[in-house]
Amino acid sequence: MEKFIVTGGAPLEGRIRVSGAKNSALPAMAAALLTQERVILHNIPRVRDISTMRSLLDEMGADSSLTHEDHGNRVEIEARKLLHPLAPYELVKQMRASVLVLGPLVSRFGQGRVSLPGGCAIGARPINLHLKGLEALGAAVKLEHGYVEARTARLAGTTFCFDTISVTGTENLMMAATLADGVTILENAAREPEIPDLAELLNKMGASIEGAGTDTLRIRGVAHLHGAEHTIIPDRVEAGTFLVAATITGGHLIIEGADPAHLAATIAKLKECGAVVDFDKSGSIEVTSPGALQSADVTTQEYPGFPTDMQAQYMALMTQVVGTSVITETIFENRFLHAFELMRLGADITMEGCRAVVRGKTRLTGAKIQASDLRASASLVLAAVAAEGETLIDRVYHIDRGYERIEEKLVRVGAKIRRISD
Ligand code: EPU
Repeated sequence: MEKFIVTGGAPLEGRIRVSGAKNSALPAMAAALLTQERVILHNIPRVRDISTMRSLLDEMGADSSLTHEDHGNRVEIEARKLLHPLAPYELVKQMRASVLVLGPLVSRFGQGRVSLPGGCAIGARPINLHLKGLEALGAAVKLEHGYVEARTARLAGTTFCFDTISVTGTENLMMAATLADGVTILENAAREPEIPDLAELLNKMGASIEGAGTDTLRIRGVAHLHGAEHTIIPDRVEAGTFLVAATITGGHLIIEGADPAHLAATIAKLKECGAVVDFDKSGSIEVTSPGALQSADVTTQEYPGFPTDMQAQYMALMTQVVGTSVITETIFENRFLHAFELMRLGADITMEGCRAVVRGKTRLTGAKIQASDLRASASLVLAAVAAEGETLIDRVYHIDRGYERIEEKLVRVGAKIRRISD
């Protein structure tokens, strides 16, 4: 198993580049199932979840190829005919986003079988709304032997309102509705930037989707979709992680290739703490933290609120600012596992239900710790880079799921991180 050895203490300085958004790339790859023609995607991040999605598509009988480009990878997918419209347990347990193939499969082939994802480290994460939505679109859905099976001759447009805002739920139903008969209205839809990115790709493929980025989507079903070429948006969570990397070390980073518009809540919070954030014409974000930063409370919310995917990294930062902060997690019920590991480094954190109270500034000193999920791992890397001495972070496979060689990027701006395997 691979581990990071991090020697902390140095401020990070220099230029660092953001990769393509994993959470945009995954639904975009699943969308390729909606057509028999080739879909070409640029700016695909080189992360493990993408390899898992490729394996899933290839196992189903699609043909995919991957080419390195200057920034990120190009992936070409051709799903001419599908041999097995099935997402097996072995792949779904590695990556819950595998469920994103269900909408496209039912919509184009009239049937799809996907292993029901179990709970995960950050919460129960049910997919009941994906299934309720597919039923509303006319699919017969049944659960047997741990698999969800959805079938229909052709989906039919409908109005569906999400009880709870769901990002992949919105993506799944949006994809399903593209080939349905008639108009589908999705209400209380997610507004995350990954939704308009997917809608843009689908519209390039011949779909008719309006309202992406608002809470109501209108999708007029079409008879078939065709191939398209699309560039994935930059990863806003990776960019946010780098913003925290600069502030937590008292450094100075220029973050290239990000979209500042997608980072408004994170940037506003860092400014509230005292960080200085500037933008230049090319889209780069410059961040410095002059002097001691102050604490600021935060509550996670759906976009455009403060993202749950930045909560763990923000908690690491709050251990290194002056004052007490209250962090409230409203999206996932168990997303504080990183707090226990931060405490092993010396953080002063107490938790009560969905609230964590962080008292800063505490001295962090290197220790052996372990990652529990993707964003928790990022939080631990940030804390370790700010800590005195050496930290050994175990289970870094979690971070490789969604960050493209984070240690190499951080080493180039002055961090001391080595990847080792036992
Ligand atoms: N929910 C339901 N029923 C459903 C679907 C969701 O009750 O059918 C609940 C969830 O349990 C949760 C809330 O709704 O409490 C929001 O979950 P959502 O469905 O939006 O999460 P997701 O689509 O599974 C995506 C990202 C996550 C990110 C969340 C929230 C992808 C592939 N994953 O997950 O990203 O945290 O939205 O923004 O897009 C990550 O990248 O580390 C990550 C976990």
